[in-house]
Amino acid sequence: MQIAVFDSGLGGMTVLHDLMKRMPDEDYIYYADTAHVPYGPKPKEDVRKYIFESMDFIVQQGVKAIVIACNTATSVAVQSLREKYKDLPIIGMEPAVKPALEKKSQPGRRVFVTATALTLREEKLHNLIAKLDGENIVDLLPLPGLVELAEKFSFEEKMVRPYLEEVFAPYHLSDYDAIVLGCTHFPFFKDTFRKILPPEMAIIDGNIGTIKNLQHQLKKRNALGGGSGQVVYYNSSIRLEDGDMLEQYKGLLKRLDSLEI
Ligand code: SIN
Repeated sequence: MQIAVFDSGLGGMTVLHDLMKRMPDEDYIYYADTAHVPYGPKPKEDVRKYIFESMDFIVQQGVKAIVIACNTATSVAVQSLREKYKDLPIIGMEPAVKPALEKKSQPGRRVFVTATALTLREEKLHNLIAKLDGENIVDLLPLPGLVELAEKFSFEEKMVRPYLEEVFAPYHLSDYDAIVLGCTHFPFFKDTFRKILPPEMAIIDGNIGTIKNLQHQLKKRNALGGGSGQVVYYNSSIRLEDGDMLEQYKGLLKRLDSLEI
């Protein structure tokens, strides 16, 4: 059986890419809810409805686990999804706040947590930060422009750099030890982040934590392996059999291969 990887759009490809590297003996469904992307600026109840509709479809395909490769969807729905699909491991994205705080090198240094506006508003993130950030050194930064750029396949530095420079302009970047990429769309832009942020600033995403969690859940169920790295792609409920969009997905995996930063 396959592992489903779900996102509002293309961001989950950054997770699929890392999954395929670390778990090559699995087959995957990649489901992008392209009919409703982006989730970040939309009301929570609408987003929850889109997620549940997508999830019903995914479960009908017969899967052994679901990775919610979307921080926004995880924030607003992961608990309810686990209650509804009790027999399936459902793994969400956890913003890597703890590893980022561990990078603090000296008193007074700070950490960015970036995500969509909806993720940044949600209680889930605020509870996590309240638990870990006793010194109040986290600054929250929404980056909706990166979701838009990714969905347009606009990854080139000349498109991305002006946006990021404007966003970071009010901050003294030399005060920061780490930045959390708390949206799965953001790792596509690691190369431009790396160019404009100080070289010592750590750039951290939550992919590895999610993958380890999935491996643990499948191992417990004796359900690891049995595949060969095949991926079936869906844009909302439309299966992509061939054509430009399928080639674009494959191109994204190649782009991510070249971004080992
Ligand atoms: C979005 O759809 O706005 C981005 C979702 C996410 O990865 O958090």
